[in-house]
Amino acid sequence: ARTGPVHDPAGAERRARAQLRPEHYDFIAGGAGEETALRENEDAFGRLALLPRVLRGGAERGTRVGVLGREWAAPLFVSPTAFHRLAHPDGELATARAAAATGTPLITGMAATTAVADVVAAARARDPEAVVWFQLYLQPEHEVTTALVRRAERAGCSALVVTVDSPVFGTRTRDLRNGFHDLPPGLAAENMRDLLPGAAPGGTRDIAMWPAGWDDLRRLRDLTDLPLVLKGVLHPADARTAVEQGVDALLVSNHGGRQLDAAPASVEALPAVAEAVAGRVPLLMDGGVRRGSDVALALALGAVAAGVGRPVLWALATGGEDGVAQMLTALREDFDRVLALCGGHRPEDLTADQVVPRGLPHR
Ligand code: FNR
Repeated sequence: ARTGPVHDPAGAERRARAQLRPEHYDFIAGGAGEETALRENEDAFGRLALLPRVLRGGAERGTRVGVLGREWAAPLFVSPTAFHRLAHPDGELATARAAAATGTPLITGMAATTAVADVVAAARARDPEAVVWFQLYLQPEHEVTTALVRRAERAGCSALVVTVDSPVFGTRTRDLRNGFHDLPPGLAAENMRDLLPGAAPGGTRDIAMWPAGWDDLRRLRDLTDLPLVLKGVLHPADARTAVEQGVDALLVSNHGGRQLDAAPASVEALPAVAEAVAGRVPLLMDGGVRRGSDVALALALGAVAAGVGRPVLWALATGGEDGVAQMLTALREDFDRVLALCGGHRPEDLTADQVVPRGLPHR
């Protein structure tokens, strides 16, 4: 008999929309420009089919994967998204508890409305072994970047995720139309508080989106022993350079369609990056992942794990911690079933020859 929560990504967004202020819903749901990249992230998965393998026997099945020296319960993680307290009063604390309770690694970030130390503490209270990474944008002032890195280190984060797809801010069409450009009173990007000596006490500074270079990444490399994950790499040549520069992992992403609207879907960029990297570092991906088969497609095309952004915020808005835990559990169970139906026993069993375009002919 089937037990457990039913996975219903479209329903979750619909229910969240009914609950959120329209400008907050739009901030989360929206993308850049005409939202082509946003749509393509999901549509590209829809253009791909999985060829199942049969009669592979009943060896014990598991969803565990190894990433940067740790075992994850499933090839699934929570991507960094801004301002969780817009979705629910418990914000990032609820997300962190749900992620930890379900064994799902969490990437919290500098745009969180809860300080990273509190996020990690909430996760560790549920599971002392919880994996929490910190996402940042390199800042124009090295001291600000340094202060952020130290906050993440002191909090107990086990990797830094550097988002490199944002030399400037993407054009967020819906936010411009709605005039949404500030957090409501009482909410702030808490990690941006008191970063520089001499700053107004308790004051936050803006997150700068700024055209950093490889030199800046090297400075970050010298600053910390934490593993570095580069987020937002889509070009295979950049992936190759990143590996040569000693980056520890890549997160293939078009930022949920919020930066370059002409960017390809993340899943469509994945095969070329996988070929360029040739297994030298693990590849993560996010963008449009909504169901177990999306995770399976990403894995078959070279990722070791796939991240979810908006689905977490929809679940948070409607159900708080329980909502997020149910969504993550349902997604993991959905993936486990897809894995079995594809004839796989473990995530690594999914291979590129099992991915075919929909439509005839294919051979
Ligand atoms: C994001 N994303 C993001 N990425 C990042 O590196 N730093 C950030 O602060 C944010 N903030 C953010 C806010 C919101 C509301 C969204 C929807 C997204 C991008 C995020 O990490 C991820 O790449 C995408 O959300 C993945 O796509 P899906 O799962 O939302 O389709």
